[in-house]
Amino acid sequence: MDYYIAPSLLSADFGRLAEEIAAVEKAGADLLHLDIMDGRFVPNITIGPPVVAAVKKYAKLPLDVHLMIVEPEKYLEAFADAGADVITVHAEATPHLQRAVARVRELGKKAGVSLNPSTSLSAVEWVLTDVDLVLLMTVNPGFGGQAYLPAMNGKIELLRSQLTRAGLSVDIEVDGGIKADNVSVVVRAGANVIVSGSGIFGTKEYGKTISEMRKNIRKAVSAPA
Ligand code: DX5
Ligand code: ZN
Repeated sequence: MDYYIAPSLLSADFGRLAEEIAAVEKAGADLLHLDIMDGRFVPNITIGPPVVAAVKKYAKLPLDVHLMIVEPEKYLEAFADAGADVITVHAEATPHLQRAVARVRELGKKAGVSLNPSTSLSAVEWVLTDVDLVLLMTVNPGFGGQAYLPAMNGKIELLRSQLTRAGLSVDIEVDGGIKADNVSVVVRAGANVIVSGSGIFGTKEYGKTISEMRKNIRKAVSAPA
């Protein structure tokens, strides 16, 4: 399995975004995670397509765009045009989930579907063949810097076993409260795309932090717990 580290720009210094992007790229990140919040699906407002387009101008890595917005289908084209490489919608945010993820693929982008911590895996059961990744929220979405919810270990394990049983090589992305010191837990449970905001941007040396994460991932997958 391939493992990817995706720093969440939500915890970056927005006044120095281009520098922060260059710094995590130099530090060895694999993807840039962008959190789009509308003040309706989640109790916070962040950025929209113009800022994603600005990030695209400076970024070398693919943009992993996490839509925490209601009626995501209305904005898929705008985020695709802005330069998103992966677009993830929340299952709770649309009654027509299959249509939304199919549209993302039609736009030539990788499609993701996300679940809040309390939403059952059954919500994505019938779109697993239509997506490239499932993003399991490991905190309640809306803010960076929250603590990882340990109950999510079992959810990650269950999803990985369902995917394996179905013969699907869908990525499991985990988002919220993940840092170098607990990355081994989510990887052992079956996650392979690791989002980390404060766990990277809240540290002094991004390169050192990302290398430590990789070391812990390698250890977790090569040795039993
Ligand atoms: C939360 C966002 C996350 C957030 C993670 O709603 O989806 O991507 O930036 O931040 P940390 O890693 O600090 O929990
Ligand atoms: Zn996110």
